[in-house]
Amino acid sequence: MVRPRVVLSRHFPDNVERKAQELFDAVLNPDDRKLTREELSALCRDADGLLCTVGDPVDAALIGALPDRLRVIASFSVGVDHIDVDAAKARGITVTNTPDVLTDATADIAILLMLGAARRASEGDRLVREGLWQGWTPTHMMGSHVSGKRLGIVGMGRIGLAVAKRAMGFDMTVHCLARRVPDRAPSGITVHTDEERFLKECDVLSLHIPLTADTRGWLNAARIAKLPEGAIVVNTARGEVVDEAALIDALRSGRVAAAGLDVFAGEPRVNPELRACPNTFLLPHLGSATTETRSAMGYRAIENLQAFFEGRTPRDVVGR
Ligand code: DGY
Repeated sequence: MVRPRVVLSRHFPDNVERKAQELFDAVLNPDDRKLTREELSALCRDADGLLCTVGDPVDAALIGALPDRLRVIASFSVGVDHIDVDAAKARGITVTNTPDVLTDATADIAILLMLGAARRASEGDRLVREGLWQGWTPTHMMGSHVSGKRLGIVGMGRIGLAVAKRAMGFDMTVHCLARRVPDRAPSGITVHTDEERFLKECDVLSLHIPLTADTRGWLNAARIAKLPEGAIVVNTARGEVVDEAALIDALRSGRVAAAGLDVFAGEPRVNPELRACPNTFLLPHLGSATTETRSAMGYRAIENLQAFFEGRTPRDVVGR
């Protein structure tokens, strides 16, 4: 039986690649080099499917250059902002993602960022590593407490909810912003439909919205100005949902006391002004980076491909 040919855009965990090779005629990228649109399109010339991920340029131009036989794009990610889903749909290509399996890992990173920002973890780590620590004093490097504070969540999906549950374990009160109050609001969480009122409640603001035309630059100077003085900003969603220049201004002035960021506009380049802010705790897009989660993401993407090739509807079709 002829196995479907699937191009893997990057090097994926070994067990995931083995599974892909078992089921498909898999074209690997063993060097893990980020492929250009032209390289990816050349590799896909005689492929039936593409297993891609965050940062791959699956835009309208690439989709337009794909062969007619390629009918499925499975993304190893929950976010699909790197894919022009409308262009894919217009060509009859099914796009899938990997929700659920990365919820806990990403929520953990959001909490790590919140604590790292609130407790000045980067500054402390640097001091110790550079041999500059002069010893304990009653006033040295005081951060802020998260217990008893208010956490505001924008994007109460799976990850937002998992962050809320964790935050309650720290005795935080949780608020979220929604277009309308859901029929059954998650228990213990205050749902706001009024954005201004919501922002005023956010001692810590954590972003969990996908990047779309509507959410690009969502956290801008006007919204920052409505946060309580000295709020903390956490972002594990996409860098582009924050207006980084506005955030940098607020971090410099102290209007925002600290930020914990796992994602950046134009990754992997990080705005040097942001890197220069001492009151930031920065990670290189590690939200889903655990061995367990990355395996689960790979298996889920493969399961979606397999379902498609067997003529079934994949579990995670995007934009149905
Ligand atoms: C995603 O899946 O969208 C994350 O950003 C990477 O895990």
